[in-house]
Amino acid sequence: MNRQSIQELIQSQENDHNLDQAFFCNEELFDLSYRSVFMKQWVFVTHTSIFSANSNIFNFHIQNDVVKIKKISKNKFSAKLSSNNKDCHIKVYESLIFINLSSDPYDFEEFILPLKPFIEIHGLEDAKIAYEKEFIFNASHLATIYNFKECAHCTSQGTYGHKDYVGLHGSEYCNSYGAGVGSGIDSKEFADRLYKWTKETKARGNFVDDYTETTDKFFRIAERTPLKENIFSETVDGSRACSHLMGQFKDNYDDNGYTAIGFSPFNSFVANTEFVILFVFVPVSTTKTIVKLMWCTHKDAEVDIEKMIFLWTITTQEDAILCEINQKGIESKSFVPGKYGKLETALVQYQKFYLNHLQNHLNTIV
Ligand SMILES: [Fe+2]
Repeated sequence: MNRQSIQELIQSQENDHNLDQAFFCNEELFDLSYRSVFMKQWVFVTHTSIFSANSNIFNFHIQNDVVKIKKISKNKFSAKLSSNNKDCHIKVYESLIFINLSSDPYDFEEFILPLKPFIEIHGLEDAKIAYEKEFIFNASHLATIYNFKECAHCTSQGTYGHKDYVGLHGSEYCNSYGAGVGSGIDSKEFADRLYKWTKETKARGNFVDDYTETTDKFFRIAERTPLKENIFSETVDGSRACSHLMGQFKDNYDDNGYTAIGFSPFNSFVANTEFVILFVFVPVSTTKTIVKLMWCTHKDAEVDIEKMIFLWTITTQEDAILCEINQKGIESKSFVPGKYGKLETALVQYQKFYLNHLQNHLNTIV
């Protein structure tokens, strides 16, 4: 595809319809997406507890290359691309290690500022990675990200839904907040519960808020919501898996809340009061995306690992199957972009962000 035809394709997309097949399948468009979206965002790749007395190197694998991250001293880190030994931009905030692969990155402080209060309450500086696992998604990054940003599939019946996730969180939460604040259809039942919980939790001195993106540079979202009555953690029966709570909840009021943060299309953070799950999405090719999950707990916690990882392991495995089926459907000769539904408002926003980034990047290429 030449620049003219890519430009025309970008401009021909309809705001309220899914993207053209080529964005999911064409290798040149994959490459353009990689450069204009993935490489431009600040992406966290690990937690500082990954380093030990025996190992001060962490290798982050990206498409055809490795970012070598080195711990130089307690608060000093470096990042280099293996292919050319050039430095990458690196920042550490609350023990999360962020890299940026562009030569002129967006300001990190501007990026992290609105997310700070949501992150800080979870005490990641006193945390360890208790477990981590990589999932291979046989789908493009677009099909993968789309799946994580729409709530319609959660409550689907049979093989294609999230029976365990919906069982724990309830369909009112999934349909109204499943892909973040404003991503679904308002539920009066959940809204009433959120209002009551917010009032009580704030009165007890804990932080509660929500945030939606205000710029066209980033794709951030954050909110705190209550877990269901008598659900204390994101385990299969809602009971605790760890001996210690994290951050402010350890010594103050345990509000049994649920924090969800999207830093960019390539990172999510979901947390209850005893563990945080960090998600990293790495685009590899038009048919492969690596989704890595890191479960972080208080550094001194004794953890029932199987119990802690059950819900998001099965949910991610279900998502991997869904994404593969979706990718195959998109690759079909019969594929026609469909109109977005009411549970897909986050996709409309993402599409706008994505196409803007592609267009902006094309504008910088002479
Ligand atoms: Fe899902």
